[in-house]
Amino acid sequence: MTVPLPDSVERVLLDEATIAHRVQEMADAISDDYRGIRNEDFLLVGVLKGSFIFLADLARRLTVPHRVDFIAVSSYADSVESSGSVRLMLDTRADVAGRHVLIVEDILDTGYTLHYLYRLFEARGPASLRTAVLLMKPERRKMDVPVHYLGFSIPDVWVVGFGLDYADRFRTLPYIGVLKESVYRE
Ligand code: XMP
Ligand code: MG
Repeated sequence: MTVPLPDSVERVLLDEATIAHRVQEMADAISDDYRGIRNEDFLLVGVLKGSFIFLADLARRLTVPHRVDFIAVSSYADSVESSGSVRLMLDTRADVAGRHVLIVEDILDTGYTLHYLYRLFEARGPASLRTAVLLMKPERRKMDVPVHYLGFSIPDVWVVGFGLDYADRFRTLPYIGVLKESVYRE
């Protein structure tokens, strides 16, 4: 059975099975690298809102104990262009000093957001700091940021679904789809 695409979605870029397979591989790599860690020492920090589905799937596939926390930043408002200035909207509850922190982000576009977060956490004295990013648009990179676990490199298109949105819509599509240009260029 094929479910029709919403009118605003041009095509499916990554289907459910492809995403699930890759997220499992990322979880395996992370579980290997953090083997032997204590629950209170390993903190996954999801970047709201876009990462919530990726984080949920990734975390449930980890075989090492871990805690989950969230942070929220804003830079895009309802547009598809980064403003370049990132604001902290919500901070983590947990103290990150002395902990092994893994930032979990949906997508790396210009890199401004992850760069900002990386610097923020670095300054707080974590035992280690790494990043897990589901998608990256290499053509758009402006800031250099370390990506330790990457899902997929994708072309410069606006993607929605699996947590990603356009103006807070389409987040819960089970696949990652390409938004029609007509939706955001009028
Ligand atoms: P920067 O440019 O700071 O962007 O690396 C990272 C943030 O921008 C959002 N973003 C997207 N969201 N589809 C989305 O739904 C996209 O194609 C897209 N590109 C960037 C996202 O919130 C990410 O955290
Ligand atoms: Mg985001």
